[in-house]
Amino acid sequence: MKMCIVYWSGTGNTEAMANLICEGAVSTGADVTLKEVSSASAADIEGADVAVFGCPSMGDEILEEDEFEPFMSSVTGLLDGKKVGLFGSYDWGDGEWMRTWESDVKKAGAHLLKEGLIVNLTPEGDDVEKCRSFGKDIAGM
Ligand SMILES: Cc1cc2nc3c(=O)[nH]c(=O)nc-3n(C[C@H](O)[C@H](O)[C@H](O)COP(=O)(O)O)c2cc1C
Repeated sequence: MKMCIVYWSGTGNTEAMANLICEGAVSTGADVTLKEVSSASAADIEGADVAVFGCPSMGDEILEEDEFEPFMSSVTGLLDGKKVGLFGSYDWGDGEWMRTWESDVKKAGAHLLKEGLIVNLTPEGDDVEKCRSFGKDIAGM
C-alpha cells in the first residue's frame, strides 16, 4: 500500500501533524512518502493508493493560496475514485475551511476515508495520538 502525504505549513503545526500521521501509517507497514507541497508533483498523487493532504486554515477559512491551493487545483482531476485523507491546523475558526475542502474533494469524486482531522494550533496531549491513529486508520482502509 503506497501512501503519499503532501502538506503546506507556515509555522510548523501542520508539519508536526504530517510527521505524526506518517509515523502512524509507517507503523502499519505502509510505504509512505512525505512531501512539502513545494517539492510534490502530480505524479506523486497519481502513483499513490492513498493521497493525504495537509494544509492549515488560512486567509479567511481557505487553503493557503500561493502554493497549496494551486497544487490542489492541479491534482483535482486525479482524485476521481482516489482514496483521500485531509488534515490541518487552525486557530480561531470552527473548522469551516475543512468542511469546504471535504466537500470539494468529494465533488471531484474522491473517496474520503475519514472526516478531515483538525487540530487547534500545535498537536499536543490527546492530539498527538489522534494524529498517529489517523495515519494508522487510513493506511488500513
Ligand atoms: C494569514 C493567516 C490566516 C489565518 N486564517 C485563519 C482562519 O481563517 N481560521 C483559523 O481558524 N485560523 C486561521 N489562521 C491560523 C492558522 O490556521 C494557525 O496558526 C495554524 O496553526 C497554522 O498552521 P501552520 O503552523 O501549519 O502554518 C490563520 C493564520 C494566518 C497566518
